[in-house]
Amino acid sequence: MASADQTRLLLVEDVPQVAQYIRGLLNAQSSVKLLDVLSDGSKVLPQVQQLRPDIVLVDALLQGRVKGLPLAEQIATSGYGVPVIVLTVPQNPVGVDPSRGIHGVLAMPFSGFDLMTRITQVKKDFAALTSTGSSRVYSVFAPKGGVGKTTIAFNLAVALGQAEQRTVLIDGSLQFGDLRSLLKVPVDAPSILDLPTDRVSESDLADVLWRDPSGIDILLAPPRVEMAEMITTRDVDKIVSLLRRVYGSIVIDMSSALNDINLAFLDLSDTIVEIVTYDSTTIHNTMAVADAFRMIGYPASKVRYLVNRADSAGGIDPGDLERALGRVPEHRVVSDGMLVVQSNNEGVPFVLANPAAPISQDLHRVAGELLAAGGIARPAVAAGRR
Ligand SMILES: Nc1ncnc2c1ncn2[C@@H]1O[C@H](COP(=O)(O)OP(=O)(O)O)[C@@H](O)[C@H]1O
Ligand SMILES: [Mg+2]
Repeated sequence: MASADQTRLLLVEDVPQVAQYIRGLLNAQSSVKLLDVLSDGSKVLPQVQQLRPDIVLVDALLQGRVKGLPLAEQIATSGYGVPVIVLTVPQNPVGVDPSRGIHGVLAMPFSGFDLMTRITQVKKDFAALTSTGSSRVYSVFAPKGGVGKTTIAFNLAVALGQAEQRTVLIDGSLQFGDLRSLLKVPVDAPSILDLPTDRVSESDLADVLWRDPSGIDILLAPPRVEMAEMITTRDVDKIVSLLRRVYGSIVIDMSSALNDINLAFLDLSDTIVEIVTYDSTTIHNTMAVADAFRMIGYPASKVRYLVNRADSAGGIDPGDLERALGRVPEHRVVSDGMLVVQSNNEGVPFVLANPAAPISQDLHRVAGELLAAGGIARPAVAAGRR
């Protein structure tokens, strides 16, 4: 199998000598793999869909029904998310213009070194261009089970979705997939396992996401416990970066362990929403996690604490929690046993089932606060208590 770091190149060139020259340059190395050479511009899009190149090289002077520069533009608007380098000659200067699908230009004659440097640079620039943007990844984490991660993650995702963010929820509990049972999805519903891991593309996403009646898309965990091992941290990286291109908000419902997969999810998160409750073991574990995060090098601002069941302090003094955390928790969600149990049993988010309930309003406020903290202004929801 091709190495994942290898760049897959598609060449669109109708001058046989030039195609042969480039073939020769590429034969001398192994970091770029030439997938195919096409001479007819009208055949390019179907091949891009099929071969999923990382980069397409197009001759600006391509003849035929579809000329070079219009082709670059077609590739850009096709939504396959692949950058184009345009080949030209000094007499026909072409400028870099990503809005017209021209991510790099190479003027003939060029050396193998020129070709390789341009490919590397365009690939890197394009990845930076598409991976940043305004998407936000929120992992809902706690060092302890049963504190409300799944409940909060699901309802938070729906609340973010209602705040006009295209939202996807990832079931990051890969072994026990809590969302599967919560949402009562059929066993044969697609899961994270159905994503082709070697060449994942945006168009594959639609087939593997569960479109929940609540209006959000959900990437389910594998249907069986032992299948969790088939997912690697590398898959996690790819999946999250792909989802970032399509969704404004990505919420991850995590399991409690600090293992490799969870660290991959946490690394990729803009914000860790860490659930705490008023009980002494949670406080103890939360402090241990804070130490671990410090050692990993996460800035304190990466974590935002959410006190769940904030109105039932039990025997614990809220001041003890604040002293342990070293700050006032950023978010609060009240307790509502009846509503939570009922809506979890029905697989319906309480933010939709009973939007007026205090717990639902809390979740909407958390969504607004998170968006505001990420610099995404949602005045209508963000204007609540802080
Ligand atoms: N704010 C809340 N009020 C009342 N019950 C809650 C609340 N949050 C969670 N629960 C209940 O706590 C239990 C554990 O919640 P869950 O979301 O499955 O936790 P986790 O994913 O952390 O294991 C569930 O029975 C859920 O109904
Ligand atoms: Mg859970």
